[in-house]
Amino acid sequence: MTSNRTVIRNGRVIDPAQGIDRVADVLFSNGRIDEITGAPLATIPEGHSVIDASGLVVAPGFIDLHTHLRDPGYEWKETLESGTRAAARGGFTTVCAMPNTDPCQDNAAIIEDVIRRAERDAIVRVLLIGAITRGRHGKTLAPMGEMADAGVIGFSDDGDPVEDSNVMRQALGYSSSLGLPIINHAEERSLVRGGVMNEGHVATRLGLPGAPASAEAVMIARDLELAALTGGKLHVPHVSTAASVELVRAAKARGIDVTAEVTPHHLTLSDAWVYGMHGEVPDVISPTAYDTNTKVNPPLRSRADIEAVIAALVDGTIDVIATDHAPHAATDKVCTFNEAAHGINVLETAFAQVMQLVHAGTISLPDLIARLTSRPAEILGKQTGSLVKGSAADIVLLDPGVAWTVSAQDFVSLSRNTPLDGVTLKGRVSATLFGGRVVWDARATTAGVLS
Ligand code: DOR
Repeated sequence: MTSNRTVIRNGRVIDPAQGIDRVADVLFSNGRIDEITGAPLATIPEGHSVIDASGLVVAPGFIDLHTHLRDPGYEWKETLESGTRAAARGGFTTVCAMPNTDPCQDNAAIIEDVIRRAERDAIVRVLLIGAITRGRHGKTLAPMGEMADAGVIGFSDDGDPVEDSNVMRQALGYSSSLGLPIINHAEERSLVRGGVMNEGHVATRLGLPGAPASAEAVMIARDLELAALTGGKLHVPHVSTAASVELVRAAKARGIDVTAEVTPHHLTLSDAWVYGMHGEVPDVISPTAYDTNTKVNPPLRSRADIEAVIAALVDGTIDVIATDHAPHAATDKVCTFNEAAHGINVLETAFAQVMQLVHAGTISLPDLIARLTSRPAEILGKQTGSLVKGSAADIVLLDPGVAWTVSAQDFVSLSRNTPLDGVTLKGRVSATLFGGRVVWDARATTAGVLS
């Protein structure tokens, strides 16, 4: 824990919202930012404790627009506490929790209950997404207005699409008056027809039923037309295909009110990961194939799709990176590929995963940080995601070049479902501060707490 007045010394401060990228000191007190200096101070200001950030990047805490915290109802997979601990470890100081809980978050009473419990149990900020339809059944709208009054930041039946076009039309109609986005799980189920991975040669070789990439684009095309019809606000979650990207790009050019996100796994892992050899294509199918930790919805896609979503992130068609952190218990994954639950545990590996794009020279570090901070803050319409004077001292210290090996066993999340176990990645979150309080400190395990 730091004292009231603190200076983070000598880091490379990257604050995209203010266009800042320089070596400087960051001063905060009482949980709020006081100043980013022009250059490192010659002496430590009186009464300040010091966090040494030499050689590190200092940036605003990350904002995740798409997280599954599983609380209430599935607390053996994750809780408000464990999920936000995982978030803090991953550099996230704000997470937006999806409503596919039990009971589902489809009315003001449950929203208020989760907000109250998050204030008690969560170690970073939790914002809530309300369901679009009652019970997430897709039939009738949930009370969107009362959930908006209770504080939700958008609406989604994530995990399930709103299949009825007229219900989606109504939801989008309300979204513009409420000023909150509809985040429709983009999947045309009549095309999926039991597919458990991406349709293509990997699925064929493994003998698994595939779902075509166009199942996503078909739903996005409908939603964009309905957004045009209603003037509604659409946020497209986990964009994963080249065709989806083209639709979003064209819709933005038409002036449709649409934003989009992509996950770390859809940016970096192809469907070849289902072979269970960390993306390598084997000559002979190995016993590690059918890795259920690669089963996710939307499914991991082809190389061509990955290249398209990367290009769309770089050119701004895709606005933000969001994790779709989907923790599942061993019992949901130690089974056949067909039976396994969809979802990848992402919060603790997200930064290192997307740093691959920076190391490859595909995106700049400041732009990557913008997609994790200022851009999601703009979508939320909130004064977070920046180190501007007076804002909450939500800060990450990053070590972009350090290599580390993912160990699912060491996750602070309650679940371990990552296909990256044992994989070495480059880029680590050294520390996370939420409202000026240290909530994650990678150095604590080896070199004592930050001070
Ligand atoms: O893979 C997924 N898992 N995709 C979703 O849309 C839902 C999520 C979950 O809740 O497990």
